[in-house]
Amino acid sequence: MTEARAILLSDYQPFSHLVDQVTLTFHLAPQATRVMARLEMRPNPAREPGQDLRLDGEGLRLLALSVDGRPLAAQPDATGLTLAAAHLPDGPFVLETEVEIAPEGNTALEGLYMSRGMYCTQCEAEGFRKITFYPDRPDVMARFRVRVEGDLPVLLSNGNPVAAGPGWAEWDDPWPKPAYLFALVAGDLRAHSARFRTMSGRDVALNIWVRPGDEQRCAYAMDSLIRSMRWDEEVYGREYDLDVFNIVAVDDFNMGAMENKGLNIFNSKFVLASPETATDDDFARIEAIIAHEYFHNWTGNRITCRDWFQLCLKEGLTVYRDQQFSGDMRSAAVKRIEDVLMLRARQFREDQGPLAHAVRPDSYMEINNFYTATIYEKGAEVIGMLRRLVGAEAYARALDLYFERHDGEAATIEDWLRVFEDATGRDLTQFKRWYTEAGTPLLKVRDEFNNGVYTLHFEQENPATPGQPVKGAKVLPIAVGLLNPNGDEVLATTVLEMTEMRQSFRFEGLATRPVPSLLRGFSAPVVLERETPAAERAFLLAHDTDPFNKWEAGRALAKDVLARMVTAGAAPGPDWLDALARVALDESLDPAFRALCLRLPSEDDMAQTLHASGHVPDPAGIYAARRRMGAALAQRLGSEVPGLIAALAEPGGFSPDARAAGRRALRLAALSLLSRLDDGAAARAVFAQANNMTEEVGALACLLDIGAGQAELARFETRWSHDRNVMDKWFALQIAFAAPERAVEVTRDLTAHPAFDWKNPNRFRAVIGALAGNHAGFHHAEGGGYDLVAEWLLRLDPLNPQTAARMSTAFETWRRYDADRQAMIRAGLRRMLATEGLSRDLTEMAGRMLGE
Ligand code: TRP
Ligand code: ZN
Repeated sequence: MTEARAILLSDYQPFSHLVDQVTLTFHLAPQATRVMARLEMRPNPAREPGQDLRLDGEGLRLLALSVDGRPLAAQPDATGLTLAAAHLPDGPFVLETEVEIAPEGNTALEGLYMSRGMYCTQCEAEGFRKITFYPDRPDVMARFRVRVEGDLPVLLSNGNPVAAGPGWAEWDDPWPKPAYLFALVAGDLRAHSARFRTMSGRDVALNIWVRPGDEQRCAYAMDSLIRSMRWDEEVYGREYDLDVFNIVAVDDFNMGAMENKGLNIFNSKFVLASPETATDDDFARIEAIIAHEYFHNWTGNRITCRDWFQLCLKEGLTVYRDQQFSGDMRSAAVKRIEDVLMLRARQFREDQGPLAHAVRPDSYMEINNFYTATIYEKGAEVIGMLRRLVGAEAYARALDLYFERHDGEAATIEDWLRVFEDATGRDLTQFKRWYTEAGTPLLKVRDEFNNGVYTLHFEQENPATPGQPVKGAKVLPIAVGLLNPNGDEVLATTVLEMTEMRQSFRFEGLATRPVPSLLRGFSAPVVLERETPAAERAFLLAHDTDPFNKWEAGRALAKDVLARMVTAGAAPGPDWLDALARVALDESLDPAFRALCLRLPSEDDMAQTLHASGHVPDPAGIYAARRRMGAALAQRLGSEVPGLIAALAEPGGFSPDARAAGRRALRLAALSLLSRLDDGAAARAVFAQANNMTEEVGALACLLDIGAGQAELARFETRWSHDRNVMDKWFALQIAFAAPERAVEVTRDLTAHPAFDWKNPNRFRAVIGALAGNHAGFHHAEGGGYDLVAEWLLRLDPLNPQTAARMSTAFETWRRYDADRQAMIRAGLRRMLATEGLSRDLTEMAGRMLGE
């Protein structure tokens, strides 16, 4: 049994020693890799003298240990090695170890492991301890020099190359870094290369390393990298700081990508792209993740985290920066809408369930369980609020101060906030609650108009979350605009700063009662609650000058309609249909925006919303109502749709840019409506003629959605069986679009498919994750969805606990549903907890979800 012990923020202590220089030598071999480590250390003057030295280490076979050249007998325990102070000098010393590890047997994909013949590492958060004995914590920063010996053509590590010969290479990283940023890659790889000249005129060699044959699919990632480097110079004044920047694509990877210093390692699906194999969404994600990892070079690497409780210091800020970048590269309005859709689907869901935690938590059992939507996406929202409150110019000054003051350090959220206080003179004590208190605030609004004075009355509620029953008022930047009934804007966007539980704001000198446009740009991550007549929503959908709120009005209208369809069996009325039809056909609007307006609220989103308003969501009822809604929209727009599809066809070659992608998105939204009217005839034609993956997979989805597409599925499989990343789409799509009563059976059949390589996280997610994402199928009343997901999580857990635990969040919404479903999920989670040898990762997740 793993011992379940919580790590507490309040227990933080600086490490007993400092590490000045690390020198590593690797003799690579699949079953028995030797790692020689030479650590130049000294006692930390910030601690009392005479401390023992505790090194982390897991699964290491210790072959030799010496201090200043004198062999030392010491017996490691299950998690590391303690060297008693009595055996250590009071001043500087050299500690040398030699260990043996077996990368080939490493299925957890943490530490040094192998992926299809290639060696690679993943050290964040605590993987370095599986490579050698070391103080594996982010506040221990050291210079690394690495020698790699192995019988493979490409041998890479962090920093700059210093020397190489046949079978060996040496790397030196001049920038002190924590061990979680260490990386090593060795394999038969090919480079797609380019050069970059930095703003001060230094020349940087850029390489994207892939398997032979994949070199032709790196151009978009390289272009994204170069644009990211330029953007960070122009917008944040941040320059790259090594002679080389390497990126490696690997097929077996637990997450999206990793920002190791000078040697980013990526899940291959976020690097490789060609028009034939990648969708527009894939291109956009590649651009965003390449940027994200690159931006970490400053926000994460040059300035890192003191401890893992500060994870949002690097992740929230880096997500915020990659969102800004994508907004600049594409349409800022469309990007903001997509980000908010994601925030609500993942972070609000998390925040409103048993896994809710603060952006800066104060306790954890397994840090891998905290790479969450709250740390990342809410962490980014909090920075967006800060910027809105202080203004763009003060934000830029604060960031300059942050880089100047903390470069080379391992910092905290307190450091971060102090920078803003010092740069702006503002007191951020109350604002800090956004970091320390979990939960999505509910913001209730009433309005009033009397004698030319319009008043907005706000009230905030901060719901209880696990371990945090009572909370104080949050600082809420509420961006508002006011419109005249004729559609003119009478008040341009103004940011109201709410700091009390209840607060009113007055607007004087108005001739008529205005229509409020509240929370423009989604200026705070809250649930806004206001009784709003459908006509007012339709008015804002037609007239709001804020593009986010224009979309939001349409979305709120659709959700009102869908909620009434689910709870009262209503039919979608003409107000919503007409308003949406007008937007869909309005050629003055960006096609990408129109496509977003046509996207119906997801079933999980509806379940979340119904639950929040006191209903018990019925998955089958939501599914049926949403299909009726789509059918009604298809009927309403039917006659216009063929013309729309024809007008949006893109003759000529494929371009992945946002304009062309937006046209494809709208065309596919129209095709999906048409498929309900023509039995898929048009979609079949688009599938047959597609010269890009967006249309190929988009048309296939249209067919599956109407219960057709079996022939196309077979053709797709034949065409793409050689391509793992494309085949993931094939697996996921048929499960995502399976009818509720068939989803479990379809999934079960696919788990018997010879290409269901369940040890590969991408494939596991494509199948098991797709079932968890099929709302009505997963929550089918018989409980087969719950059983199948739980069964596969338990099978994966002993091999790859990190991915098993991450995917267990499929169950985090269980308290929303009826007693029968709750009982089934509760029993499943309890069975999980009772399983012998369950990982610490899954133990923590199941325990928190049960709340017992
Ligand atoms: N720091 C990585 C990022 O950019 C994510 C990460 C954390 C990660 N832990 C990981 C990636 C484990 C792969 C495996 O956001
Ligand atoms: Zn990150």
